[in-house]
Amino acid sequence: MTQAKDLLARMTLAEKAALCSGRDFWHLKGIERLGIPSIMLTDGPHGLRKQTVGGERIDLHASVPATCFPTAAALAATWNRDLVYRVGEALAEECLAEKVAVLLGPGANIKRSPLCGRNFEYFSEDPYLTGEMAKAHIRGVQSKGIGTALKHYAANNQESRRMSIDAIIDERALREIYLTGFEIAVRGAQPAAVMCAYNRVNGSYCSEHRRLLTEILRDEWGYAGVVVSDWGAVNQRVTGLAAGLDLEMPGSRGQTDALLVKAIEAGELDEMDLDRAVERLLTLTLRLTGALTEDASYDRDAHHALARQVAGEAAVLLKNEGGILPLAAVGPIALIGAFARTPRYQGAGSSQIRPTRLENLCDELAKLVGREQTVVYADGYRLRGDTVDQAVLAEACRVAAPAAVAIVCLGLPDSCEVEGVDRAHMRLPRSHDALVAAVAGVNPNVVVVLSNGSPVEMPWEDRVKGILEAYLGGQAGGGAIADILTGRVNPSGKLAETFPLHAEDNPSYASFPGGPKTVEYRESVYVGYRYYDSAQRAVRFPFGHGLSYTTFQYGHLALSAAHMEDGDLLTVDARVKNAGPVAGAETVQLYVRDVEASVFRPDKELKGFLKISLEPGEERGIRFELEQRAFAFYDANAGGWRVEPGEFEVLIGASSRDIRLSGAVKVTSTWQVVVDPLQRRDLQPYHAPATSFPIARPAFEALYGRTLPSNDLAKGDEHTLNTPIGDMTDTIAGRLLYRLIQRKIGKMTQGRHDEPMSIMLKRIAEELPLRGMMMSSGRLTHGMLDGVLMMINGRAWRGMRKLLMELWHT
Ligand code: BGC
Repeated sequence: MTQAKDLLARMTLAEKAALCSGRDFWHLKGIERLGIPSIMLTDGPHGLRKQTVGGERIDLHASVPATCFPTAAALAATWNRDLVYRVGEALAEECLAEKVAVLLGPGANIKRSPLCGRNFEYFSEDPYLTGEMAKAHIRGVQSKGIGTALKHYAANNQESRRMSIDAIIDERALREIYLTGFEIAVRGAQPAAVMCAYNRVNGSYCSEHRRLLTEILRDEWGYAGVVVSDWGAVNQRVTGLAAGLDLEMPGSRGQTDALLVKAIEAGELDEMDLDRAVERLLTLTLRLTGALTEDASYDRDAHHALARQVAGEAAVLLKNEGGILPLAAVGPIALIGAFARTPRYQGAGSSQIRPTRLENLCDELAKLVGREQTVVYADGYRLRGDTVDQAVLAEACRVAAPAAVAIVCLGLPDSCEVEGVDRAHMRLPRSHDALVAAVAGVNPNVVVVLSNGSPVEMPWEDRVKGILEAYLGGQAGGGAIADILTGRVNPSGKLAETFPLHAEDNPSYASFPGGPKTVEYRESVYVGYRYYDSAQRAVRFPFGHGLSYTTFQYGHLALSAAHMEDGDLLTVDARVKNAGPVAGAETVQLYVRDVEASVFRPDKELKGFLKISLEPGEERGIRFELEQRAFAFYDANAGGWRVEPGEFEVLIGASSRDIRLSGAVKVTSTWQVVVDPLQRRDLQPYHAPATSFPIARPAFEALYGRTLPSNDLAKGDEHTLNTPIGDMTDTIAGRLLYRLIQRKIGKMTQGRHDEPMSIMLKRIAEELPLRGMMMSSGRLTHGMLDGVLMMINGRAWRGMRKLLMELWHT
């Protein structure tokens, strides 16, 4: 018998139920009697946010210093599995030093829209790249005995109404786009935990979605670890446990544990389900505590140096006209933009790290340029607000005019990249756009450096010679940018997402973020480049794009076979040469195109990538191996992955729009196209994305295969525990509650309205379902909430009585 099984056999029903919810915000419950320790879970994912205040509340400002690595958006732009693995190892070392058993991350949600407020925490618009990055991250962390919690499973692709929205997704898109990244990470790295998302998917909350949590995750992908709820994501605890949700976070001081016991005693819940959950939790605890027994420390300098290396590999050189970069070693440099001194290096919310130190470009550039070269700084814009200050602009021009080159540091202000809040548009602040225009008017040699976690519009692209997308590069981002500008580091980052010309070009634009009740993923599988390339739409910079200070030549493509059958492996060989004067690294991308498809398929799909470093003149062979799945689509009718027989192209390129080599392979498969409902006439819009977007409701409904649920807040309907507090203001009691909460938040944030945390709290308070209040106050009971709900629904006296009775009994 395993140790977990043995412990399980010795536990009472109450002890078992108790283990299934947290002791507080950050700890599991231990059981002293049995020697089961309590372990700690802490936010990440790109650093450790271990609170210094107790576990009774969330405090986003008070945490121990930790290395702030580049955010996931930046990590993905490295396309470097080994480097992400090393970041994982470093994160684990910090966990070991702080006695944290599980790091909450990485996030594997797909960037459906460039406007999602949490895109900086996610990897890519592509599921394969997302999965590979998540897998490397998890393997790195877990190699040192620390656990990860892969999140937010699934389809948490927006922040707006994230705690209640119902994501309506057709089966193909769900499988091919939104689940594949999780699947790759789960199958390839077995994270200790998977965190279910707040939202619903096709009608059910993720926290009680049997299909997602058990049938797909465990039965299909073979997942053996723990499923934990996102913080406050539990709707019905009993239903959730039966569906496969092991652990509720944070706990509710035993209230939901008692519900589990009651349900088992009443025969409404099978004790076997509870036992399974407890055994998994015990296995997790026993496994992870092993690593935490010894005292550990980590090397802050080494981690900082790693953070700088990663930020350097993550930065994407988007444009380099006339080789303006690296900077020439002569002539004065104008460095303009407040971000050069006060860097934007991470987003706001649960992932916010208190860095061990913080570099800025101004100081780092001054250290790297020769003594004879001067760097003159000007603010260029104000850090807060969006007004164009003419005096600040004039000063910027005065500094820029005589310089050999003007480096203009732009980006998104911290209030634009906040958990809980989506961006309203894709533009930079007006003051930033105005700065480029003004500086370009006095100096022809402008290089823009961007700090942001998600794409922005660049109406000034033609007026500048260089653009470096530095993303949110963590605490050493300033130094990393200096390394690239001066040529100490040769850029090798590539975009893990498309930069469209305008937000309106994005295929999800017309149905993002949806609401109030549902969000329809009408674009189906046409996410990111899958759409832009299929529709041949102009973009600012394509998926996979990124320049280097050297050039690479591709050649000698060889496919191991011209013909492939079920179960075969196709080997793809090619050679890449560094044809330029300096050492550099190239990410070679492999895409597959289904040439004759009867079902609709995107123009091409990423199925492999390799990053290689080459000395000047060096040439090396690269090899990819493709299984049948690389050619497959998800057949919703058959309920499985299928390859349609026919011809496929294997494309090797430097970006999705820079294909250098191509070869063909004929695939035969036992799969037969019988009568394919995806061919139906009403689905034609999906076969012709160039002319059919945005997709109209009937076509999506036909693809979805069921009547679309209503998206209206029905007037006169009773509110429920799931109604967001902001939607209850049509009643007197609802208005009162809303005002009370807003006032409390006003006090907490002390009038600092434009600060990220204030923005986030205000939005959370609006969108929090009534049941979520359980998380915010230690004294609330389910009974009290029922009383409040009665009052909101117009039964004032009964509600009041219930509330008073509950208060009396607690
Ligand atoms: C976030 C999670 C995070 C958790 C704990 C939630 O609101 O969605 O990503 O891990 O809080 O802070």
